[in-house]
Amino acid sequence: MPLRLRLTLWYGSALALVLVIFSTVLYLITARNLRDSVDQSLEETAAAAVRSLEERGFLPLIDEEELMSQFPELARIDKFFQIFSPSGTITIRSPNVKQHELPLSRQALEVAFSGRTIFESAKYPKEPPLRLISVPIIYRGNLLYIVQVGTSMESVEQTLNRLLLVLVVTMPVALAVSLAGGWFLAGRALRPVDAITLAAQRIAAGDLTQRLNVPASADEIGRLAGTFNNMIARLETSFRQIRQFSSDASHELRTPLTVMKGETELALRRPREAGDYTVVLESNLEEIDRMTRIVDELLFLSRADMGEVKMEHLPVSLESLLEDIYRQASLLGQERDVQVVLGAMTPAVVQGDELRLRELFLNLVDNAVKYSRPGGAVEMTMTTASGHARVSITDHGIGIAQEDLARIFDRFYRTDDARAHTKKGTGLGLAICAWIAESHDGRIEVQSESGKGSTFIVILPLA
Ligand SMILES: Nc1ncnc2c1ncn2[C@@H]1O[C@H](COP(=O)(O)OP(=O)(O)OP(=O)(O)O)[C@@H](O)[C@H]1O
Ligand SMILES: [Mg+2]
Repeated sequence: MPLRLRLTLWYGSALALVLVIFSTVLYLITARNLRDSVDQSLEETAAAAVRSLEERGFLPLIDEEELMSQFPELARIDKFFQIFSPSGTITIRSPNVKQHELPLSRQALEVAFSGRTIFESAKYPKEPPLRLISVPIIYRGNLLYIVQVGTSMESVEQTLNRLLLVLVVTMPVALAVSLAGGWFLAGRALRPVDAITLAAQRIAAGDLTQRLNVPASADEIGRLAGTFNNMIARLETSFRQIRQFSSDASHELRTPLTVMKGETELALRRPREAGDYTVVLESNLEEIDRMTRIVDELLFLSRADMGEVKMEHLPVSLESLLEDIYRQASLLGQERDVQVVLGAMTPAVVQGDELRLRELFLNLVDNAVKYSRPGGAVEMTMTTASGHARVSITDHGIGIAQEDLARIFDRFYRTDDARAHTKKGTGLGLAICAWIAESHDGRIEVQSESGKGSTFIVILPLA
């Protein structure tokens, strides 16, 4: 069942319930008020009659005509009266009593003897019900008369019936009008959801450039559309990255293969001396090493993506680790005439995997040496602050342009300056570094200026 229909039905049922309760309460209260006011008016009339009788000294009442002239309040059009003797027989009654006999009920007589007033209802078939009050007149402890005043409930019944009719007719109309309103409102509220569904269908069909029009409001729908757009934007980016990655990877592997194929074909063109073959095989071995490295690194990264790389969680002393790295880096530096300097060190212990951390720092120092100019210097320092160790590796080499900074951690990304500077390198090193830092709850920051040098800062939480 569509949401719109469901919402409208829920709303309609709740409204119908409220209307029924409201109408019932209204009807009951009105009925009660009307009956109370009838009783009150009967009581007042009876009291007036009793007062008049008392003023006349309870003389035996015989003459009807006289009585009527004496007690005009007894002959009100809408009321009739009867006066009973203590035996329950009618002494006198107003002419407007209908053709029926209206004898005093047993209960009314008993109550009269005990000196109290009683209200009763009487009903004759095919006639509106009657309401009666019976008031005893007691003189010196004896029951003299019982005055009964009655009235027809016709107008009350009519009013109530009209009210009932109005309620029964207006209730379905009100319900229908508000159901229509609810249907319209639900439709309006749900329209953006339809728009989202349509856009999602287009996106599912492969068009990741689609975006939703985000309504300006910050309501649920606005937030949903915003979240949806963010999700699509991220999907689009990662699809693009995957495509880029595959083309980069095949390109990186094709270059060494082309070199090997060319050299091998050239060598096979005519018989050669053993020394020539050795040169070709050595060159091929270099390319094979290069490809092996790429494949190993790719394998590592894809296992890291799938969460399959095991990490130790042991205390690692960064100070002694960096001293080790320094020794290795000095050798690397000598090859390229770059001086590696070990700067200020604060002792620091972090929790993690020593081998991975070694790989991280070695990659960074290797980059610093690789992208330095001959005669340059690379400096390693470590400080600690607010629970973190900060290891900086600074060089004064080719630097990185501002627009490249965001991309150097991407797989296979190498700047043009770096390609021009050295052929060695695949662009996977920093991607691995970033992953290692992140899996130690740390991060890598870069400050660099093109042509002036770079500083890579590794920030790791202390153990
Ligand atoms: N210290 C640095 N100075 C200048 N550019 C750098 C530095 N470190 C990294 N880069 C830039 O970032 C790119 C990516 O570095 P990364 O270490 O991932 O790859 P690489 O060093 O080229 O190859 P490898 O995978 O062999 O490490 C480099 O190609 C270079 O353009
Ligand atoms: Mg590198």
